[in-house]
Amino acid sequence: FFGFDLSEASRTLEYDDEQEGIQDELIIQFSHVVAENTPKGMAARRFASLVESRTDGEIKVQVHSNGTLYNDQQEYQALKEGRVEMIAPATSNLTERFPKWQVLDLPFAFPSHQAVEEVYEGAIGETLLQDLEQEGIKGLTFWYNGYKQVTNNSRPIIYPNDFDRLHFRIMPSPVIEAQFEQLGASTSVLPFNKTYRNLEVGFVNGQENTASNIYSKKLYQDQSYMTISNHGYLGYAVLINQEFWDSLSKEHKQIIESSMAETTSWIRRHAIELNDEHTRRLRQQENLQIDYLTQAQREAWKRRLTSIYDDVEAVVGENLMREIYDLQD
Ligand code: LMR
Repeated sequence: FFGFDLSEASRTLEYDDEQEGIQDELIIQFSHVVAENTPKGMAARRFASLVESRTDGEIKVQVHSNGTLYNDQQEYQALKEGRVEMIAPATSNLTERFPKWQVLDLPFAFPSHQAVEEVYEGAIGETLLQDLEQEGIKGLTFWYNGYKQVTNNSRPIIYPNDFDRLHFRIMPSPVIEAQFEQLGASTSVLPFNKTYRNLEVGFVNGQENTASNIYSKKLYQDQSYMTISNHGYLGYAVLINQEFWDSLSKEHKQIIESSMAETTSWIRRHAIELNDEHTRRLRQQENLQIDYLTQAQREAWKRRLTSIYDDVEAVVGENLMREIYDLQD
C-alpha cells in the first residue's frame, strides 16, 4: 500500500506541473502559404518574434509557411474551427464568402501604393474587417504585398487581344475570373502551391502574381513572357480566431495589437522594396522576356475591363464604390 500511495502522489504532482505549464505558455499557430523570403513570410516571423519577446515567452507564435499545414483552400475553415489561431489569406480568397471584399480585386483600382494604404487603413478596410465578425473571425489588419503582373508561355501580352484563348491559374475570386473573361482568356482556380506544377505540365498557360511570389516559387521557370502591368493589387487580411482572442488577457491583447501595428508599418515599406528586388532578379532570367506597359496600353486594358466596375457596384453598393472612384482623381 505504501508504494502504491507514493506513486499516486507523484503522478498527481507531475500532472499538476503539466497543467501549470499549459497555462503559462500560450501557442498561436499561424499558417500561411507563401515562401519565407516574401513580404508575408517575413512579416509573420517578425510578428512572432515581437510577440514572444514582449510576453517574455508567455505566448509562442509558431509560423507554418509554404502551405505545409493547410493550403489556401483549407486555411479559412481551419481558422474557424480553431485548428489554427491565425492566418493571413490573400483578400481575394475571402470574396466568395464575403462578396463586399470583391472591391479590392477590381483591376486598376489602385493608382498608387498610397491609394492602397488609404483603402486598407481607412473606411473601406474597417467595413470589410467588420464583415468577418458574423463568422467568429476577428480581422486584425491588412498586410501588403504588391501589384500583380502577368506571366505566360505563349506570347508577349501587350494589348487586351493578346490574352485571346490563353488559360490562366487564378485565386477563387469572381472579379479575377471576370477580368480574364473580358480579356478573352479562360481560367482555373488552383491552390497557390499547385501553380508551379500546373505551369510545368502546361495545364495552364499562365498566371498573375506579384514579383515576390513569382520569384520565390519559381513560377517563371516554365514561362517565356512576363508583363509588368500592375493591373491589380495582392494584399492580405490578417485574421485571428475570435474565441481564442476572447480568451486572452487584456495585457496579451495589447501586446498582440501593438506588435501587429508595428509589423504592418514594417511590411507597408518593405513589401515595395522586396518586390522591386525580386523584379530585378526576374530581369536577370535569360529565358524570360519582360515587357512594361505604356500608359496608352494600360488605358486599352482599362477600357476592356470597365463593365466589371458596374457588376461590382451592384454587389458592394454605391458608398464603397465612390471611395474607389475618388482614388482615381
Ligand atoms: C496566390 O494564391 O497567388 C496568393 O494568394 C498567394 C499569397 O498568399 O500571396
